[in-house]
Amino acid sequence: MNIDGKPYRTIWPGADGVSAEIIDQTKLPFALEIVSLRTLQDAAHAIASMQVRGAPLIGATAAYGVALAMREDASGAGLARACDVLAATRPTAVNLRWALDEMRKVLEPLAPEARTAAAFARAAEICDEDVETCRKIGEHGVGLIEAHAERKRGETVNVLTHCNAGWLATVDWGTALAPVYMAFDKGISVHVWVDETRPRNQGASLTAFELGAHGVPHTIVADNTGGHLMQAGLVDLCIVGTDRTTANGDVANKIGTYLKALAAKDNGVQFFVALPHSTIDWTLDDGRNIPIEQRDASEVTHMTGQLPDGSVATVAIAPPGSAAANYAFDVTPARLVTGFITERGITVASREGLSLLYS
Ligand code: MRU
Repeated sequence: MNIDGKPYRTIWPGADGVSAEIIDQTKLPFALEIVSLRTLQDAAHAIASMQVRGAPLIGATAAYGVALAMREDASGAGLARACDVLAATRPTAVNLRWALDEMRKVLEPLAPEARTAAAFARAAEICDEDVETCRKIGEHGVGLIEAHAERKRGETVNVLTHCNAGWLATVDWGTALAPVYMAFDKGISVHVWVDETRPRNQGASLTAFELGAHGVPHTIVADNTGGHLMQAGLVDLCIVGTDRTTANGDVANKIGTYLKALAAKDNGVQFFVALPHSTIDWTLDDGRNIPIEQRDASEVTHMTGQLPDGSVATVAIAPPGSAAANYAFDVTPARLVTGFITERGITVASREGLSLLYS
């Protein structure tokens, strides 16, 4: 997607052929800073500190992390260690495990001296595949927005989304936002309600940034606003992403997604989840055993923002000494999900629905 008219992906190979470059998302929306990843530790730090985040992008960065590790130690032990280090960075997004498995599949049969080049090549392929997958999710999902536009005789279609499942969460296009971009590009009048997404504000800082850069009309709302908007008839459909979808169609996504799904159900509003195949965890029958990441309490007790002088500062918003809990994800049961938008089409959120597309 474009920033100031210049096309970007969220991760790309460095010009030297032995590094990867990323947009540092901890600096958005106030600064566009590119960071070069040169070592396994750089890649692990980028994922754990959320310089990169969003399930598909976490997977793509892990793939480059393995490639960077192969430069340091391409032995079997080096490969195993790299996968262990990267797997420990964030627990909920299953794309991380998927990408590491893909890398192992390609690298294990090779002699150590062939591994570095093969790893960079596979990492680049994983990125290209993600772009194509997200583009197809957009193509399948845009019909849902078109249907609302027809029903409303061209009046603006209002989509509510939570967290950031746009191009910044993938390599390009996004999952939940790909249908929105395609609708906008087709000239459909579309507007997005952007949940701010406390505690890290991925909605206010990332979703609003990327929608704005593309020119898509949007409004940031506090996280608890969605239910009221739905009661007032101001939401036509919700589209969110997912970090892990279990075999029965339960989905783990950013904390607060479940409450939006409950509100949507109560108000008869469609609630779609957009996902690539790499987000499906076939090893889990249902959402009960999805590991839920708990992050540092300081993300809840503090906020980062821009001061009038342009500098960026982190300030406390809670009394010192109060305990805070920071659950990063929740699980939305399949029964609350209207359907899945995938690269293979739209399907029912159930074991049968997923099996129809992914036999
Ligand atoms: O903690 P984050 O920012 O990595 O969480 C991201 C989300 O919850 C996204 O909705 C999810 O990864 C889907 S991304 C296409």
